[in-house]
Amino acid sequence: MKQEVQLPPVNAIKPSSKARVIVCRGRSCRKYSAEEVFENFKRNLPPDVDLISVPCLGQCGNGTMVMVESDPTWYSQVHPDEVAIIIKQHIINGCPVKAMLYPKFHKK
Ligand code: FES
Repeated sequence: MKQEVQLPPVNAIKPSSKARVIVCRGRSCRKYSAEEVFENFKRNLPPDVDLISVPCLGQCGNGTMVMVESDPTWYSQVHPDEVAIIIKQHIINGCPVKAMLYPKFHKK
């Protein structure tokens, strides 16, 4: 079972060359199924990818917010059912899911 790593504020996250998925589980994102999104990542991420939970990614109202490092790539409005495509297409095959990118940080 994947070990859950919890960090306090997002600015405490140090850069890493290892692939990491950071899921916001803050109050705003919990309104948009953040707990289910987190659990789906926890169950399905490859063992060499860290899963990090943070209390806010500073983008409230756009949840569930997910960031994939070391790119970094931001995803917004992530639904629990969409975790599988992020894992398959981005984490495993290295190609971000363009249709799900957070438009504020990834211009079309
Ligand atoms: S609560 Fe998720 S971005 Fe703020």
